[in-house]
Amino acid sequence: MKKIVVGNWKMNLAASAAAKFASEIVLTASTANNVEAWIAPPFTSLASVASVVKTSPVRLGAQNVHWDKNGAFTGEVSVEMLRELGCSFAIIGHSERRHVFGESNELVAKRAVGALSQDFKVIFCVGETLSQREASQTSKVLKEQLDAFFALANSLPANYQLNLVVAYEPVWAIGTGKVASLAEIEQAHHSIQECLAKNGAGACPILYGGSVTPENFGAIVASPLVSGGLVGGASLVASKFMALVELAK
Ligand code: PGA
Repeated sequence: MKKIVVGNWKMNLAASAAAKFASEIVLTASTANNVEAWIAPPFTSLASVASVVKTSPVRLGAQNVHWDKNGAFTGEVSVEMLRELGCSFAIIGHSERRHVFGESNELVAKRAVGALSQDFKVIFCVGETLSQREASQTSKVLKEQLDAFFALANSLPANYQLNLVVAYEPVWAIGTGKVASLAEIEQAHHSIQECLAKNGAGACPILYGGSVTPENFGAIVASPLVSGGLVGGASLVASKFMALVELAK
C-alpha cells in the first residue's frame, strides 16, 4: 500500500499565498510515484489551490465537513460544495475540533458517516490527552472514539472502508515539539488496528500525527504499522513537506 503524507495547513495561508505555496509543493510531489501527497488548506483557499494542483497527483481536501447535503447549518460546508472545488477528502475529528471547539465523539462520528455515505474520503482523527495517557487510558479512549463511529457506520455501504483513513494524533504531541516514541506509536496503532479489524475495517491505513518533522519521520514511517503522516507545522515549509514525502517513498 502506498504511504500517505497529509499537510494540514490549519488556519494559515490565505488564497493567494496558498496558491503560491502549493505551486512549490506540486513540483516535488509530482515525481513521487509510490507515495501520495495530500493537502488540506483552509476553506477559503481551496479554490485557488485547486487550480494549481488539478493537473498534479496532489490530492486536495478540507479540514472539516458537515454530514448533511444542505440546510440551515450556519458556518458549515457540505461534501458537494467541497467536491465542486476539486476536493476528495476531509479531515474529521481533529483534536483542535474536539478540544478547542467542543466537537463530541458523536458529532465527529456523524460527520464521518455523512461524508463516507457520499463516497467522500475521510481522515478520522483519534488521540488521547496527556492526562488520559498518564492515567493509562490511551487504548480505552481510542476505542471509545472509534466505537462512536462504528455505532453509526452500519448504515454505510460495505465498501466504505476504501475511503476511510484513521489518524492517530496524541493531543499532547500536536504542535508541542514532543513527538511520541516509536513504541508509543506502534502500541496505539496496534490498538486502533485491532478495533478496526473487529469492525471489518482492518485494511484501513493508519497515519501518525503530532510534531512530525523530517528529523523524526524516517523512523516512524518505516514502521509497518504506520501508513504515513498527518502533519501540521512542518507542512507549512515547502522544503520540509517535500522532505517528508521523500522519506515516505
Ligand atoms: P503538528 O500538527 O505537526 O504541528 O504537531 C499535527 C496536526 O495537528 O495534524
